[in-house]
Amino acid sequence: MKGIIIFFLFLLTACSVPMTLHKGLAVSGREQPSSEKCSECHITIYNEWKGSAHSRAYTDPLFRSITNDYMVKACVNCHSPESALDSEMRQRQANIDEGVNCQACHLKGGKLQGPAEKHLPFDIHPIMEKNGDYIKSDLCGNCHRKAFEEYRESGEKDKTCQHCHMPEAQRTIIDNKPWVWFKDRYAFKKHSFDIRDAADLSDMIAIEVVMKGDAPLSGEVTVENKSIPHNVPTGGFGYHEVLLTISLIDDTGESVEKMTWSLTQEMGTSLKKGDKRRVPFEFSGIHESQRAVMVKLTKTDFDRKKTKTLAQQIVDIH
Ligand code: HEC
Ligand code: HEC
Ligand code: HEC
Ligand code: HEC
Ligand code: HEC
Repeated sequence: MKGIIIFFLFLLTACSVPMTLHKGLAVSGREQPSSEKCSECHITIYNEWKGSAHSRAYTDPLFRSITNDYMVKACVNCHSPESALDSEMRQRQANIDEGVNCQACHLKGGKLQGPAEKHLPFDIHPIMEKNGDYIKSDLCGNCHRKAFEEYRESGEKDKTCQHCHMPEAQRTIIDNKPWVWFKDRYAFKKHSFDIRDAADLSDMIAIEVVMKGDAPLSGEVTVENKSIPHNVPTGGFGYHEVLLTISLIDDTGESVEKMTWSLTQEMGTSLKKGDKRRVPFEFSGIHESQRAVMVKLTKTDFDRKKTKTLAQQIVDIH
């Protein structure tokens, strides 16, 4: 049965995609295909990557302005590299605006590389090499130098960057039609690089609220980095802030009074693994409609427009 399926798979490949396309996939230099080519078969991975910060690493407005419109080549070498696996990264010659694209992580010396053994009896790509580096944190550390340095200092032994930032998902090898009809599913890794895809953040980062006074309403919040083996927030160049917001909310969930407190790399207030920070608070007024205290921990960007919730707790008051 499996043999027949594989035979059909082969036939369909041969009919639906010209063989030259496969050859073209592992070309370096100016002729390199766009990552969109990879999406002809790896649709889900492509869409995840497209929505991720990696696809914006070059076009990021902040990056563009700090590099004076891409004049500083040393920066572009890492934000849009030919191959992140090269000991010295160089700027890619094609599709530069794709930033850290598929090839940046999967192409080395004219060979496509990846973490696993082949599943099919023939090569759908021209050359596909298994490379053990894909499951090591060092791969990410080539670029994420600050986070990697903190990671090494934390002495973490069990979990790699991929473990938390690329969680598993069951998928067919090609998730395009008609391929998805062949139901063999394998464990693939998500490429959205969005930490909220991880199972449960509460084992990693926690907030605890203790109420103290009634009038004025006061208390203390403890923020703890329980098991993240790098600073919260982490990162080198750029803007990295995690915001603690303590709000007094009314029946409708609207905030009637609010205070914020910030954790940043730059101010040295980021939390190492195991660190706890206590933040006392006191609201100034008594509001008739006050119902609860809401405490939220969010990752935010430079102009505080985009936020991702990392932890939240609501305490009812009477
Ligand atoms: C930032 C680096 C990076 C980028 C960008 C990237 N990948 Fe990956 N990819 C990896 C790593 C690391 C693994 C292995 C993860 C593991 O097994 O723990 C992987 C695994 C894979 C696999 C093997 C199956 C799996 O999921 O384990 C496929 C297929 C794949 N990537 C395709 C792509 C495609 C297509 C793109 C572009 C849309 C892309 N990758 C972009 C780093 C990257
Ligand atoms: C014609 C369809 C097709 C296209 C286009 C395609 N792939 Fe694949 N890719 C596959 C299939 C099928 C497999 C699984 C092969 C196997 O396991 O034998 C695979 C596997 C992979 C793997 C995983 C290898 C491993 O470790 O198991 C990576 C990484 C990968 N592709 C990257 C890419 C990149 C990068 C591109 C774009 C440059 C791309 N692919 C374009 C069909 C395609
Ligand atoms: C070629 C260099 C490079 C490699 C390799 C790389 N990254 Fe990145 N990564 C970047 C850059 C550059 C950014 C920032 C993009 C931006 O925000 O403009 C980034 C952003 C991120 C973010 C931030 C997401 C966000 O929402 O702000 C995460 C998480 C991340 N990378 C994880 C990883 C992991 C895990 C690996 C290893 C599997 C990895 N990266 C490998 C260059 C790289
Ligand atoms: C135990 C799980 C875990 C491991 C292992 C881990 N991280 Fe994280 N990482 C997190 C969590 C949770 C966050 C969200 C908190 C934050 O933004 O600071 C995060 C945040 C990040 C961010 C910022 C994301 C953003 O949205 O801006 C980057 C970049 C990052 N990690 C890179 C790495 C790299 C590189 C490694 C490996 C050296 C790594 N992480 C290992 C859990 C992990
Ligand atoms: C070795 C690779 C590397 C080099 C070289 C590099 N960066 Fe980055 N850059 C990163 C990574 C990785 C991130 C994601 C955050 C982090 O982990 O520090 C990032 C994030 C950024 C961000 C934040 C994007 C955002 O919106 O949050 C800016 C801005 C930035 N870099 C500018 C620069 C500039 C300017 C230079 C040159 C002086 C430069 N980078 C050189 C790897 C690099």
